[in-house]
Amino acid sequence: MLVIRAKNYEELSRKAAKYIANQVELKPNSVLGLATGSTPVGTYKELIRYCQEEGLSFRKIRTVNLDEYYGLRPDHEQSYRHFMDHNLFDHIDILKENTHVPDGLTQDPCAFGEAYDEMISVLGGIDLQLLGIGSNGHIAFNEPNQHFVAPTHLVKLSENTLEDNARFFDSIDEVPPQAITMGMRSIMRARRILILASGVNKAEAVKGMLEGEIDPMLPASILQLHPDVVLIADNEALSLCALE
Ligand code: PGA
Repeated sequence: MLVIRAKNYEELSRKAAKYIANQVELKPNSVLGLATGSTPVGTYKELIRYCQEEGLSFRKIRTVNLDEYYGLRPDHEQSYRHFMDHNLFDHIDILKENTHVPDGLTQDPCAFGEAYDEMISVLGGIDLQLLGIGSNGHIAFNEPNQHFVAPTHLVKLSENTLEDNARFFDSIDEVPPQAITMGMRSIMRARRILILASGVNKAEAVKGMLEGEIDPMLPASILQLHPDVVLIADNEALSLCALE
């Protein structure tokens, strides 16, 4: 894993956006795997700037998102479909029909998961997957578990994740307890992975991912097995690591 240090969140966002913009410029019909959460918001802002001020076009780009809360309608203001529209898609020249977010209302999560993974294969697989990392080491909503789960699936969110995400809702009781998440197979099949980490609350998870054993109790550690992962992290997120 290549580790790129940023001095703060702003620098992290600029570097991440540059990495993604290069992918879009070099392969304009790329399939991008996209993430939600606080961390990529600055990256998306910068990508909007590339599009609006520097003429970077997303017209042929296809996107697949990592996850969606189970039971939230796409127009709910905390749904990840809403997040993506609001923070990126509505401000760039991407065609909405080329953007995919898991269906949080599916009645049959198993069949949906199979169809979502198949859709990713039919698109040609993910060229560049953007990831955040949870303070418990989750990637997408693959929570600490006894084993890694391969397909896109319905997952019960951990207490830790409910607490972390309560800040987006009026109270913790309103955080949906389940989500549909891409599993490890589609993530690990991505040709390139870019993972972002910002803030001291990510430091332990980042240390575990880089220096620990590969362990499904720290899901991001599976990335040690992927041949092309770049971590862009700020000083705080790297504060427990024994890097140079
Ligand atoms: P955050 O979430 O960017 O809001 O910290 C990251 C994650 O849970 O993957």
